[in-house]
Amino acid sequence: MPISHAHVCARENASNEYQRLKKQNLLNPELKPRPYGGSIAIPVITGDLELEFEAIERHNPHFELEEILDNPPKKWEKLGDMVIFKQGTDTSKWNLEEVAKSLAVNRIAIQNEIDPGAMRESRLELIHGDDGWVVHRENFVEYEFDATQVMFSSGNVTERRRMGEIQTKDEIIVDAFCGIGYYTIPFLVRGLAKHVHACEINPNSITALRKGLERNGVSERCTIHEGDNKITMRDLREVADRVILGLIPSSMNAWGNAIRCLKPEGGVLHIHMNVHENEIEEWTEKTAEWFATASGKIAEILHLEVVKKYSPRIMHVVLDLRLT
Ligand SMILES: C[S@@+](CC[C@H](N)C(=O)[O-])C[C@H]1O[C@@H](n2cnc3c(N)ncnc32)[C@H](O)[C@@H]1O
Repeated sequence: MPISHAHVCARENASNEYQRLKKQNLLNPELKPRPYGGSIAIPVITGDLELEFEAIERHNPHFELEEILDNPPKKWEKLGDMVIFKQGTDTSKWNLEEVAKSLAVNRIAIQNEIDPGAMRESRLELIHGDDGWVVHRENFVEYEFDATQVMFSSGNVTERRRMGEIQTKDEIIVDAFCGIGYYTIPFLVRGLAKHVHACEINPNSITALRKGLERNGVSERCTIHEGDNKITMRDLREVADRVILGLIPSSMNAWGNAIRCLKPEGGVLHIHMNVHENEIEEWTEKTAEWFATASGKIAEILHLEVVKKYSPRIMHVVLDLRLT
């Protein structure tokens, strides 16, 4: 393995440090950052410490696919060592072993629409490989889940990064729809939250969340509340500095409980919603008003984040609201 100078930093700072080194042209772009004890080592062009790093593969997978397939797909998603092609991709004439090799993965799956039910179950079809468990690394956090059982929205990567960048040291957080830990794990690993109460109804997501917490070494700072949050959030009264309401199309059913979860002095809410692109401003104002009235507090709009286009003209947005 190639040897390079290394810059070692705490895992919660790794993403910021990586960006800083990149901007200052100090990064060694040919090599991958790696764990170093409990910290992260980033390959750099100068420094006192030298370590072995894995090289970043620079082959162009599109060219490789063109060599083995007629009309190869132009796009795909990668989760850990699994590649996912979109719904309707005709793979009947493919040599799957060869395709996997050219994309440097072990598993191949075909995407189907996510189950529209509240548990948002995955309908991914595995067509090559033994099981759907993947370890997906993103922003120096690792998620572990069975992609054939639970959904992982790659489109929400910016929101996961944004949540991970909030300094939540000393905060108690309620994640009302935690899934496999999209936000719970970054809050604990990068934001250094004191404790997260993670509410989730889907047993498959909970299995994945437990593994993810273990893998990132943050299990002791998380309590999992299994079951419908209509019931589990009742036991979380006046405990939270921050509540995440990460369910689309709407998290409205949990709004009342979210207010009751906040400490008496108030706190911050992150309210997810699917909203028509022409109605975002109106929805933001009305939602702030609703929370002010329902809580008897002052509602301050901190930020409105447009996460992604959900369907034509419908945007997935997140309103950050402070109640005091
Ligand atoms: C959309 S997923 C989480 C997605 C993630 N927050 C994101 O934005 O990528 C929503 C999660 O909420 C869970 N859920 C839905 N209704 C629930 C309820 N009433 N109580 C607890 N969890 C619920 C689902 O099982 C699912 O894992």
